[in-house]
Amino acid sequence: MSEKAKRPLSYGMIGGGPGAFIGDVHRRAIALDLDTRLVAGVFSRDREASLQTGQELFLDESRVYRDYGEMAKEEAAREDGIDFAVIVTPNVSHFAIAEAFLDAGIHVVCDKPLTTELGDAEKLGSIVSERDLLFAVTYTYTGYPAVKKARELVRSGALGKIRFVNAEYPQEWLATKAENEEGNRQASWRTDPSQSGKSNCVGDIGTHIENMVSYVTGLEIASLSARLDSFVEGRKLDDNATIMVNYAGGATGLYWSSQVAIGTDNALRIRVFGEKGAIEFFQEDPNYLKYTPIDAPAQILSRGRDDLGERGQSLVRVPAGHPEGYFEAFANIYRTFTGALRKRLAGEPLSDADRDFPTVNDGIQGVRFVTRVVESAANKSAWVNF
Ligand SMILES: NC(=O)c1ccc[n+]([C@@H]2O[C@H](COP(=O)([O-])OP(=O)(O)OC[C@H]3O[C@@H](n4cnc5c(N)ncnc54)[C@H](O)[C@@H]3O)[C@@H](O)[C@H]2O)c1
Repeated sequence: MSEKAKRPLSYGMIGGGPGAFIGDVHRRAIALDLDTRLVAGVFSRDREASLQTGQELFLDESRVYRDYGEMAKEEAAREDGIDFAVIVTPNVSHFAIAEAFLDAGIHVVCDKPLTTELGDAEKLGSIVSERDLLFAVTYTYTGYPAVKKARELVRSGALGKIRFVNAEYPQEWLATKAENEEGNRQASWRTDPSQSGKSNCVGDIGTHIENMVSYVTGLEIASLSARLDSFVEGRKLDDNATIMVNYAGGATGLYWSSQVAIGTDNALRIRVFGEKGAIEFFQEDPNYLKYTPIDAPAQILSRGRDDLGERGQSLVRVPAGHPEGYFEAFANIYRTFTGALRKRLAGEPLSDADRDFPTVNDGIQGVRFVTRVVESAANKSAWVNF
């Protein structure tokens, strides 16, 4: 192992300032594995707010930068510069920030959706391959051990040929005009096209469906027909989406994402039906996976037992019956990404298991999905090729 790979890894964060949602989740999830440290950041465009977060996290003030451009340049020039940058700002800024760090030769983790324009996502993909850097997109839910098992079952042929996928992601938090509430910045930027992009609901949560189905089944979308609704009066972007999908090879699917589904919390559910069996995974009960072979009763597979499979078990931190959840799913994406980065720094080759985190290519597919859904919806739900 090289000297560089033997020490703790270090990262810098862009976003995640006072009152922000997901930056804090990333920091806590990364800290679960104790071998990667936050050492630099620009936590807000507001200098005082950024410094406040830097102080709360005990960062050296000289590494709380004025903007991401300065941070990329200065960190790249340091002997002990960050190993990777974590981008947790609103969607519209992902492209420019990711490009700045990649151009400085720094590996990147970026939250979804990767960008607001498909061309920009593809450009990031080109830079990543030209510079041979690692790039993860935090599609959180594929980090659950039970989802690893779901993927293993489907891909082993246990379900036979896949016929139909039904996936939904309902929430209720935008059932009223939350963007008008004082201080609800998460609602306000998500419903603003200049910050969020062409879609709110599909970009924010529909992309999780697209990625989860692709990860578990390997099915490739051939064409889709979408309907977007903006139920809350005066809202500029969609808050409900219904999408029919044709996959290459003949399977079909139905996706529904909604932020106006009263009575639901964060209810991502995926069901895959094949000729020989079915699986069902529910994000709010993530320690379990339901598997039903056609000729036997349903089985509930639980995290922490041997039948979860080698890959799933490798990401379990406490035994069965001690529930794990959202933070661990995030931490598993980071554990895989930092494991790959350590090997890269040590000059070792990466195996498929090492690369089992969502990559820039998954991010590109997500932006393509949003783009095609918006195209279809704007054209009376016409079928569009993917
Ligand atoms: N993976 C997931 O499950 C998941 C969940 C929630 C949000 N997200 C994604 O994370 C991103 C952030 O969402 P959020 O809900 O945390 O938003 P948020 O509004 O709560 O936080 C955004 C933060 O970025 C800061 N910021 C904005 N522009 C900046 C810049 N140029 N430089 C430095 N800081 C800047 C803001 O000050 C704020 O602190 C979005 O792209 C969203 O889609 C992903």
